[in-house]
Amino acid sequence: MSAVPVLSARLTAAATAAFGLTVDPELRAATKPEFGHFQTSVALRLAKQLGRAPRQIAEQLVAQAQLDDMCTLDVAGPGFINLTLLPSTLAAGVNELPESLPRNGRTVVVDYSQPNVAKQMHVGHLRSTVIGDALCNVLAYAGYEVVRQNHVGDWGTQFGMMVEQLLAEGTPAEGLDLEAMQQLYQRSRRHFDSDPAFADLSRRRVVLLQSGDPQTRGIWQQLVDISLSEFDRVYTLLGSPLTQADVVGESAYNADLPGIVDDLRAAGLLTESEGAQCAFLDGFTGRDGSPLPVIVRKSDGGFGYSATDLAAVRHRVRDLRADRIVYVVDHRQSLHFQQIFALARAADWLPETTTAEHVAFGTVLGPDGKPFKTRDGGTVYLVSLLDAAVERAATLLADLEGIDRDAVARAVGIGAVKYADLSSDRTNDYVFDLDRMVAMTGNTGPYLQYAHARLTRLLTKAGTADGKVTVLQEPAEQRLALLLAGFDDAVLQVAETLQPHRLCTYLYDVATALSAFYESCPVLTSDGETRTSRLALCAATRGVLHDGLALLGMTAPDAM
Ligand code: ARG
Repeated sequence: MSAVPVLSARLTAAATAAFGLTVDPELRAATKPEFGHFQTSVALRLAKQLGRAPRQIAEQLVAQAQLDDMCTLDVAGPGFINLTLLPSTLAAGVNELPESLPRNGRTVVVDYSQPNVAKQMHVGHLRSTVIGDALCNVLAYAGYEVVRQNHVGDWGTQFGMMVEQLLAEGTPAEGLDLEAMQQLYQRSRRHFDSDPAFADLSRRRVVLLQSGDPQTRGIWQQLVDISLSEFDRVYTLLGSPLTQADVVGESAYNADLPGIVDDLRAAGLLTESEGAQCAFLDGFTGRDGSPLPVIVRKSDGGFGYSATDLAAVRHRVRDLRADRIVYVVDHRQSLHFQQIFALARAADWLPETTTAEHVAFGTVLGPDGKPFKTRDGGTVYLVSLLDAAVERAATLLADLEGIDRDAVARAVGIGAVKYADLSSDRTNDYVFDLDRMVAMTGNTGPYLQYAHARLTRLLTKAGTADGKVTVLQEPAEQRLALLLAGFDDAVLQVAETLQPHRLCTYLYDVATALSAFYESCPVLTSDGETRTSRLALCAATRGVLHDGLALLGMTAPDAM
């Protein structure tokens, strides 16, 4: 466990005792090794408030705090306090790494993955699924009760068209796969545009679908069931824990939509505009300055995407008891979510005590730096990408003996894709480059997996590693210990900021510190207490890498 909370609490108490002020010391990792392990500018802030000399305040604070049992302190520059943890404090930090953090009594709903029925999952859904899985793991570790919601796109006028097309062709839905459904959609679209009679039938079919006509619902359900089982295959390949139990599709809110409109009208939030029911909210204007509406009910009487999302917010707060709602959806839908959050607050469906956050992400680019497309301009399907990654990993591992090559290739290939997605700031676009993703050097998934596998081999060779960390003399082992003790802080930071790349950076720092440790600190050839302690440090590092990768949704093979 990190020493930071204890040190912070003691510094705060000292400031209260000495100056009668409550402050957060805001301990930060030292910017240079010669500044020790942590730094705080608390004396400078106190000095301003008290109108006294900062160095003097710092000296007084250091004397008052009595932290000698945990660290050495010195005052530097204009009044910074530098803290250097004692080896015993560093060791305790590693030896007392907890299994997980205490429950925080809060429920977080995570809306992610969200593929569309009758369409293949594409790279955008990959990002949502990978980021969403990692965030769910991190939030659960951090103490939240996590509720996954896969808001599958299974509703809308296109389903009226597709059902009508199937009936017109006399083909059964049975036996169609996603590819065939996608073609069916295209045929129905062309039919709709060229044949007014078919267009009319399709519109009527949408009404039948929404009002629950058994034949229409039956065919629609078949399209949904086939799609969901194909999505399951992708989730299995990806190693995502999502199942059909997490699916609450758009259709699930159908019966709530009229009530949503009634409530908004009663609250005085609706305006009729060109036959549609719209909400105009302060602060939302288009480029030309004209007010930008949320269209809750269309002029043809149908409900759209926004109405469904409003019903979903209400359900998540009222029935799922969400304290926090997180939407993992690409950045192009930012405005949509800002509007939904604002309208839901205005309608009192989203109380101040519940936060709603759009976890936006950028676009996956092809080698040409443009949105990823196949050579003939088509959509790149997720399954084919994942298959390619596993194949690439299998080639790299071809010479290895004595491992379950298929399982390891899967772990490395899928892990490489996930890690590449998670390791850069999610709001950035990134280029899908398999060669770089599977590289064994640099900030990649395979590099971290390899560090873990190498530790496993070392520990197996050593036989036992059930001792404790007791000796931390070398700077390289101190640095490694300090990082390991910061595992929980790193995870908590991700739970707060919803930025998984911070966990990747942390794990990469651990792996880098591990290499430096190997270089200056022999393990197997050392002896006595040093050997025992270094083995324990290796075991702790292996644990942190294993658990950190697991939080990112990656497996860490024991050999590769
Ligand atoms: N199905 C949508 C798409 O593929 C994303 C849904 C996002 N979630 C939501 N609650 N609107 O673009």
